[in-house]
Amino acid sequence: MQKRNGRVTDSLNFFQGNDPFELINKYGSPLYVYNERIFRQNCRNLLEMVTYPKFRVNFSAKANSSLALLQIVKDEGLYVDAMSPGEIFVQRAAGFKPEEIFFVCNNVSADEMRYAIDRNILISVDSLSQLELLGRLNPGGKVAVRFNPGVGVGHHAKVITAGKDTKFGVNTEYIPEVKNILKKYDLKLVGINQHLGSLFMESDKFVEGVHNLLDIAREFDDLEFIDLGGGFGIPYQKLSGQAPLDLKKLGEQLDGLMFSFAKEYGKEISFSIEPGRYIPAEAGVILGSVYSIKHNGKTKYIGTDIGFNVLIRPSMYDSHHDIEVYGKVELDHFAAESVTVVGNICETGDILAKDRELPTIMEGDIIGVLDAGSYSFSMSSNYNNRLRPAEILIRETDEAVLIRSRDTLEDLIRNQVKL
Ligand code: LLP
Repeated sequence: MQKRNGRVTDSLNFFQGNDPFELINKYGSPLYVYNERIFRQNCRNLLEMVTYPKFRVNFSAKANSSLALLQIVKDEGLYVDAMSPGEIFVQRAAGFKPEEIFFVCNNVSADEMRYAIDRNILISVDSLSQLELLGRLNPGGKVAVRFNPGVGVGHHAKVITAGKDTKFGVNTEYIPEVKNILKKYDLKLVGINQHLGSLFMESDKFVEGVHNLLDIAREFDDLEFIDLGGGFGIPYQKLSGQAPLDLKKLGEQLDGLMFSFAKEYGKEISFSIEPGRYIPAEAGVILGSVYSIKHNGKTKYIGTDIGFNVLIRPSMYDSHHDIEVYGKVELDHFAAESVTVVGNICETGDILAKDRELPTIMEGDIIGVLDAGSYSFSMSSNYNNRLRPAEILIRETDEAVLIRSRDTLEDLIRNQVKL
């Protein structure tokens, strides 16, 4: 194997001696590969970012809810947030206790709410209608409310979840109604939460949102916790030198706010954050195979098996993922050239990287799509009746282990009823 641009994975020792070609031979192509050491380190970076004693990190499992990874999250001492009964089910299977799960839901049915109530899982609602529903289902119970703090962040309009253009959160003008409903059903508001959106690289907006949320907290007397949400970004353009989020600076800013608020509030309130992407993203690489190379006009297409069924982020948000090239044969010369890397899905928009400078790629090579541990498998699909790939984990011992088998053809018809 010849790594024609392996700077990122080499500097991280990502594969820990495992050969991408051998991994693909054994587990099939494409393949989601995770690194346990990096994954654990990311958990620790967040746990250690502040000194405030009552600080919790709830992993937002929508980024990646593979059982083995959730088990590691639990082992590292984090809690989780869930968005659906399905996520709760998987998290329970990974060993999380009810009090370690926070159901941050949006537009759920009475049955879905009951699923959490019956399991003693705390629910955060984000509309007056859902607060009423919860009051009817669980009068006298505990509840959290997700507020819209008025500022949003995010790498794309589709993932900004606070501010003016979003379906999420209760706007502050409705605080009096919230209080009325709490009273009507004798509900105890134990926490408030927010989520500004997904992926910020500068802390300023996030800190502004925290200030706003603390103003909201001052409206309520008996809070036990304040959840500041997720959105912690990672640099997707490492090959061009993009810097990481300055967690130390953010931690210091948060520490200042948390200590002074607790003093003012007069009790030992807990604070939590709810990061998803930050924890698995850089701990995941998707390996895929190059099956064809062709030209159309000025464009050179590199045809791979990494379609948007495997990684939808580039098609859905125009997201950038750095790509490494692992050559099957040793080339003496390989120059950078502009290529468009595409998948095997029957849509013209199935583009992984458009007009990207990459070293020479030949049929039979493998590409590694970097920073692909988050929102990759969790957003994958069987579109075109493609089989979802296997997931493997490179353990701290260097051993690569299977954590999810590749789909089988039978899976494609498992739940269907023939006429
Ligand atoms: N909390 C709540 C309530 C959320 O809705 C989310 C993400 C998070 C926490 C975690 O956000 P994170 O730390 O991962 O930014 N599919 C998109 C991201 C969508 C995020 C949805 N909500 C992507 O691939 O970029």
